[in-house]
Amino acid sequence: MPPTLDLGRTRHSKMIISPPRINLRRAASYHYDKGPLSATSSRFNFDHLMFSPPPSPGLPSLSPPPRKPSKGFAGYVRPRRVVRYILPVLGFLSRPYDHSLVSRADLPDHPAPILLTDSRGRTSWTVSIPQGSKFPLTAEQFADVCEKCRETVARVQQMRSQKGSIQQTYLGFLFDTTDSHFVDVKEAQQAGYLPAAPGDRSQDAVNTLVGETVEGGIPKPVCEKSLTFVLESDDAGLGKTLMMLWTAYGLAQKEGRAFFIDDSRWGYGKYMDIFQAPPREDCGPPPRHEMLPCPLEARHLVVSTWTAIDVFGETLVGAPSDDPLKRLEPVAQKNMFNLARLGHDALFRLNKDDNVYVDNRVRDLMARRIVPKTKGKQNGLAIGIHVRRGDRHPFEFQYRSSYVPINIYAETAREILEDKFNHTGPHGAEDAVAKKHSLMILASDDPMIYQASELKGATLAQERIKLAAKQEMKQPELDRNVMHKFHDEAFGWEGGFFSAMFWNLGQSSSSADVEAYKKRPSADAIRLRSLVGRAYMMDLAVLADASDVVICTVSAVGCRLLAVMMGWESAVEKGNWVNIDGGHPRLQFFPSTPLLFSNMGVLQVVGGPLSQQFSQLGTFSQIGVAVASFLFVAVAINVLQQFLFKKPNEPPLVFHWFPLIGSTITYGMDPPRFFKENREKYGDCFTFILLGKKTTVYVGPKGNDFILNGKIRDVNAEEIYTVLTTPVFGKDVVYDCPNSKLMEQKKFMKIALTTEAFRQYVPIISDEVTSYLKRTADFKGKSGIVDIPPKMAQITIFTASHALQGKEIRDKFDEKLADLYHDLDMGFSPINFMLHWAPLPWNNRRDYAQRTVAKIYMDTIKERRARGETGAQDIMWHLMNSTYKGDIPVPDHEVAHMMIALLMAGQHSSSSTSSWIMLRLASRPDIMEDLYNEQVKNLGADLPPLTYEDFAKLPLHAAIVKETLRLHAPIHSIMRAVKTPMPVPGTKYVIPTDHVLLAAPGVSATDESYFPQPDLWEPHRWEKDSPLAPTIVRNVQNEDDDEKIDYGYGLVSKGANSPYLPFGAGRHRCIGEQFASVQLQTILAIIVRNFKFRNVDGSDKVIGTDYASLFSRPLEPAKIYWERREGCQL
Ligand code: HEM
Repeated sequence: MPPTLDLGRTRHSKMIISPPRINLRRAASYHYDKGPLSATSSRFNFDHLMFSPPPSPGLPSLSPPPRKPSKGFAGYVRPRRVVRYILPVLGFLSRPYDHSLVSRADLPDHPAPILLTDSRGRTSWTVSIPQGSKFPLTAEQFADVCEKCRETVARVQQMRSQKGSIQQTYLGFLFDTTDSHFVDVKEAQQAGYLPAAPGDRSQDAVNTLVGETVEGGIPKPVCEKSLTFVLESDDAGLGKTLMMLWTAYGLAQKEGRAFFIDDSRWGYGKYMDIFQAPPREDCGPPPRHEMLPCPLEARHLVVSTWTAIDVFGETLVGAPSDDPLKRLEPVAQKNMFNLARLGHDALFRLNKDDNVYVDNRVRDLMARRIVPKTKGKQNGLAIGIHVRRGDRHPFEFQYRSSYVPINIYAETAREILEDKFNHTGPHGAEDAVAKKHSLMILASDDPMIYQASELKGATLAQERIKLAAKQEMKQPELDRNVMHKFHDEAFGWEGGFFSAMFWNLGQSSSSADVEAYKKRPSADAIRLRSLVGRAYMMDLAVLADASDVVICTVSAVGCRLLAVMMGWESAVEKGNWVNIDGGHPRLQFFPSTPLLFSNMGVLQVVGGPLSQQFSQLGTFSQIGVAVASFLFVAVAINVLQQFLFKKPNEPPLVFHWFPLIGSTITYGMDPPRFFKENREKYGDCFTFILLGKKTTVYVGPKGNDFILNGKIRDVNAEEIYTVLTTPVFGKDVVYDCPNSKLMEQKKFMKIALTTEAFRQYVPIISDEVTSYLKRTADFKGKSGIVDIPPKMAQITIFTASHALQGKEIRDKFDEKLADLYHDLDMGFSPINFMLHWAPLPWNNRRDYAQRTVAKIYMDTIKERRARGETGAQDIMWHLMNSTYKGDIPVPDHEVAHMMIALLMAGQHSSSSTSSWIMLRLASRPDIMEDLYNEQVKNLGADLPPLTYEDFAKLPLHAAIVKETLRLHAPIHSIMRAVKTPMPVPGTKYVIPTDHVLLAAPGVSATDESYFPQPDLWEPHRWEKDSPLAPTIVRNVQNEDDDEKIDYGYGLVSKGANSPYLPFGAGRHRCIGEQFASVQLQTILAIIVRNFKFRNVDGSDKVIGTDYASLFSRPLEPAKIYWERREGCQL
């Protein structure tokens, strides 16, 4: 008589009870339930066994047990990583550990591996399961012991080898790497390591195992070896459990182990309610404390659904392989298949009643396809269709969030029939008959499938325990007094079997504690679950036995079980098992990638195998990989940010891959090119990342004006430059003081640069140049080749120091000052924007040089004051006698520091410019002749000594300097910190205060709209009538019309609309322009008088620019050919 269950107290509000049948309906919310997996599919598959990374181990239990690591530490650090690195250390430390025997009193009170060290210091290990421990151990205990076993093996190996390296250990079956240092429980007891077996085995008696038989009240002798499989309570996935159970059985057979099953906490109730007893063993299970979850050498193994992966490891596929793909080779698949098949053959025997039903059902279905001999020789085809719904979704990408549509099942079935019975040939008529006798046998966890029009006519695999369709549930209650067709039970729900439904079966609506209910289900629940299990098993049994071909989706474990049930030959080799999910070929029994995707998530797919490979790398490689991964993520985030978080009120950001580095490299390699290219892409105003800083470039006259003439409250230079200049110049000057003080200091310096002073400078500079050319070996003889930049650097420092700082200081450059200035110069390395503070060798030399040079100046000042000097005209004298507002005299150290600043400020710009002049002349000997002719024409054929007034008669000489600065302005980037948000006039942009502003006057100086043929070095363009004349020369009739402003150091041109600003503009404008001009023209005039230059190869080429330092200059070596003129004055 079918059981009648009262489910009136059922918790689920949407459950419908249809006595005497049991009808349940799934709630929509179950879709999102994250509970355990359902009965008919699960996460188990062999790929899990193949790909699961080894468990994260803990330290093995020592005796006495180790202190537990603190929670905080464990919370942040992956124990496995830690263990990996500390074990060698531990190994070293534990060398003197010399217990002859582990004291039994010290044994851990929980199941754990323990290390044993004999009197000779040799280490071995065993597993201690305290007597009286509850059997089976909890899932957590199982997992914990397995983890520790793995670590213990590694540790023992390490301690034994004393090499400090840990070898990868496997605990799995069928490996050669057996652990010879493991001492099994019995031997450990005999040796006294573990307490002897208790006389009282009442625990064992109560907890009998499935397969354990007692004959005549006398327990059988204990088996030599055994494997006990624990059916876990927490798993709704019957399919998964079954696959593991069968496989475990297969493995036990291979190892000659007796096989037992523990079902004491199985969610489906008693094993033997669904299945018949496993084959009888002629021996009995051992005492429970001898059943160890690890290692594989354990004589008596106990494996639960949760530890199977640890214990079996990768052995299921045969030999271990580092290559995950190899594990998917057909041979490996077949090995796995065969193990499961062994288990199936021995264990898949349904309980007697169900078995009888299935047999009859199969016989009945098989009979239906038989074609009477009179009508043909071939029978019809039985096509089994297994449709899985519920928790599991297909691998096929397009159906990932739904299910494979029914019409694909139906279509596949139709194709199979068409292939088999194609009506062609002599037996065409017979094909038609056979087709008529063909049938579809359908099993699904969703009763609605039975109603699908595509599968109309399909026969249910079994009707003994049936899922009721919605309509059926709505039918009025049947009259109990009338005889109806017999059904044992009928279940029903919409949309397939969901694990949450499983756990709610039979739960009282008043009970809120689902977890507690899971552990202690009611008797009704157990009976219902058992019915679910039976229905599922009968479905599979009928499908496998009655079908010639089975169509299913491999994402469902039920589908894979069906293959095992059909056998390798029929299912795989003959192709009777047809998977329609994931685009797998029919032979692909164990899916690879899609299965992983489905079960592990994309990241794990990538991370799982990768993490295995990662852990096998050396430390350096691991660091390399970690850095590369970090970079990859950083780059990805950086790129995404640029596309997703654009700020409409800020100038466009130059695209860059790497954060922090940004465009530093492309900018640094060739700033003018970088500006031009990005101007084309983004317009005059754009932002780029320079060493992590957002730097907004604004090019063109408007940009120059916006930045260089920016208000003091908006822009700030000292914040940018002080790190570089203060260590070189010294304290309290230039950028190490308020801007107002700098303006005063600039006024002091500028006042000294008078026309009268320049008059004195011209002969000084002329003499220095003449003297240098006379004494320098590279210019001896009639002609020669010389690397010109170093020569021009020396000429610049000698001329500037003599003119600006007096003979006394100049003479010191012949002694030690040259070297000291060179060391000071090193402080301007761009790297010092970041490392100015670092105690690096060049910084140490910089600091020493600064102190020494400053002392030289201060000593000189003292001497001059001491000797009561009066009426001098040099800059030092002017500065010594200057006073700040409020009549405060300039302190000596500030005078000294300003002297350093003056020389340093002009040195790089002037020496670079003079080098470019010489190189340009070498590329254009015709211009050199023009210059010579200009001097002869305007100064006289005898070329008298130069005077300051002569330059007014030498416009081409002035134009040479101008044109060279146009193309080779040594300061290509002028920077300012932004102090208040600055709206850019005429645009929607506001430059925020975390940006740096960058002006690049060189861009407009080489802009075609202002300078025809901008890249051509043509000094004659500065003549008003030249066709190449710049627009400013044409338009600005009178330079005095240009707007002037006084920032505190005299009137200067604002240069607001000028595209040509090699000396800058605004409050930070250069005060050395005229001096530089006098200096450069004097040097030029002397050289032109005495030499003819040309390129060594006679070409008109010009060498490239070196942007590696703050001031751009020619790349070196930059050699030119020189030849003395007739009438050379040297
Ligand atoms: C061809 C030679 C030179 C060029 C191209 C040049 C260029 C410049 C430029 C572009 C600036 C503006 C920097 C800014 O705004 O941040 C500047 C400032 C300055 N230059 Fe020159 N310069 C040259 C020679 C000299 C000489 C020979 C001296 C000294 C006698 C000198 C002293 C200064 C000073 C004191 C500043 C002011 C810095 C400030 O106020 O922030 N320069 N120079």
